[in-house]
Amino acid sequence: MNYNSFLNLSKKKISNELKMGFKKNQRRPYKKKINLDIHSKLKKIINKKQISFLDVGCGDGSISRYLIKKLNIKDFMLNDNNFFLDKIKWCKNEKKISGNFLRASKKIDKKFNLILCYSVIHYIPKNKFFTFIKKLLKILSKKGILFLGDVPDKNLILKFLKSQKGKNYHSKFYKNKINYSKIIKSKKIINHSDLSKFFNKNNDYSIKFIKQNNSLHYSNFRKDIIIRKK
Ligand SMILES: C[S@@+](CC[C@H](N)C(=O)[O-])C[C@H]1O[C@@H](n2cnc3c(N)ncnc32)[C@H](O)[C@@H]1O
Repeated sequence: MNYNSFLNLSKKKISNELKMGFKKNQRRPYKKKINLDIHSKLKKIINKKQISFLDVGCGDGSISRYLIKKLNIKDFMLNDNNFFLDKIKWCKNEKKISGNFLRASKKIDKKFNLILCYSVIHYIPKNKFFTFIKKLLKILSKKGILFLGDVPDKNLILKFLKSQKGKNYHSKFYKNKINYSKIIKSKKIINHSDLSKFFNKNNDYSIKFIKQNNSLHYSNFRKDIIIRKK
């Protein structure tokens, strides 16, 4: 699947922009802070010396590159479409798994004790959301960690938009062109509570929601979620 197909897929359901994501290049100044934020959370919980790492929807691979160096990871794989993977020159082709993870996961025949899926979940159509999660869990090893990062929550978005900060944000980036209350009512955006319910039904996992560093652009309406397989 190429980049445009991905974009079309998300447009068909609901665009990233409507979930208060970044417009192109808006994210660039925050990249370093994002790396630091993820690393500071992971280093507290990773106790394995031998990390086997998978980055699902790795984009330009910059987070992976940072973590691989910082956590001294030798065993890793990156997934995204070829549009992005082809640009990642520091990674050998045999470590790249191309394509939509919903299908590409079939090509993966090993388990990982650290899976990162950062700022990706909101591209997945809601009706495929839990299939996507189950596919991630299938390749997570026992005691492994799934780091679902940067996950928007519709209640948080709504709350933020009611605040003065949220109103300013909305008019600055979206010129108030978007009718958020209509979108929120459309139920196309996942709530963090949907994820809690899903994991609380299953005793095999623990789930923890962690606030993003305040200096991050979207810390008001997104959280990082750490899922641990028991
Ligand atoms: C906002 S970018 C985040 C990239 C990277 N994780 C980061 O935070 O720098 C979202 C990425 O998710 C990828 N993506 C979206 N849906 C996907 C899917 N079904 N399977 C694999 N990757 C997907 C997109 O191609 C894009 O690179």
